[in-house]
Amino acid sequence: MKVDGKPYRSLWLADDGRTVCVIDQRWLPHEFRVVDLHTLEDAAVAIRDMWIRGAPLIGATAAYGMALQMAADPSDAALDRAWAILHETRPTAINLRWALDEMRSVLRPVAPADRADAAYARAAEICDEDVEINRRIGENGLGLIEAIAAGKPGRRVNILTHCNAGWLATVDWGTATAPIYMAREKGIDVHVYVDETRPRNQGAHLTAWEMAGHGVPHTLIVDNAGGHLMQHGEVDMVIVGTDRTTARGDVCNKIGTYLKALAAHDNGVPFYVALPSPTIDWTVDDGVKEIPIEERSGDEVGWVWGRTASGEITRVRIAPEETELGNPAFDVTPARLVTGLITERGVCAATPEGLKGLFPERNSI
Ligand code: MRU
Repeated sequence: MKVDGKPYRSLWLADDGRTVCVIDQRWLPHEFRVVDLHTLEDAAVAIRDMWIRGAPLIGATAAYGMALQMAADPSDAALDRAWAILHETRPTAINLRWALDEMRSVLRPVAPADRADAAYARAAEICDEDVEINRRIGENGLGLIEAIAAGKPGRRVNILTHCNAGWLATVDWGTATAPIYMAREKGIDVHVYVDETRPRNQGAHLTAWEMAGHGVPHTLIVDNAGGHLMQHGEVDMVIVGTDRTTARGDVCNKIGTYLKALAAHDNGVPFYVALPSPTIDWTVDDGVKEIPIEERSGDEVGWVWGRTASGEITRVRIAPEETELGNPAFDVTPARLVTGLITERGVCAATPEGLKGLFPERNSI
């Protein structure tokens, strides 16, 4: 996508072909900063401390983290160490484990002297595959938006989204946002309600910035406004991303997604999840019981980042110092509340049959 008219991906290689460049998302929307990752440890910090975030981009950055390590030390021990260090950075997004397993299985049979080149090549492919997956999710989701638009001629289609499942969360396009960009390109009158997404405000900081940068009409709302808007017919559909979706269609995503799904269900608003196949955890059925939910620092709840009127980017305390702070970062929406899963292979029901219908190669598992 574009920043000030210049095309960007969220991750790319520097001219030396080895250094990994990422957008440091902590400073958006106020400053556009790029950071260089030189080592495995740099990549691990960037993921853990959320310089980059979003399940697909976490996976892509981890793949390059493995490549950085192979350039420094291509031994078997270093390969396993890199897998372990990166794996513990963020526990919920399954794309992380998917990318690490993929890299390790590709690299293990390669002679150590050739591992760095092989690692960079596979990491680049993972990035290109992510872009193509999201483009196809966009095409498949576009049909859903077109159908809604056809049912309300002359009136805008209102889409609510939560957190940031945009191009900053992926390598390009975004998952939940790809259908929106494509609908806009086709001239459909779309408008996006952007949940601010406390505690880290990925909606306010990132999704709103993306929408503004591409001229998509949008309105930032507090997380608690969605139910009210749905009751009053202001939301035609919800599209969210996911950090891990189980084999039966339970959807783990940013904290607060479940409440949006409940409100959508109560008001007959279709609730769709944009789902790239590396985000499916085929080993898990019951998402509520089996998916590990990342518990992040209470500081993210007790403090809020922003820019002061004088231009300083800083954080302010919003709770009493003595108050205990809890911060579960994700929740699980049961499959029964999900209208459909928008994948790169098509749209399916959030059921085992629906998923295996699109991914028949999984029937043997
Ligand atoms: O904690 P984050 O910002 O990494 O959480 C991101 C989300 O929950 C996204 O909605 C999800 O990763 C899907 S991104 C295509």
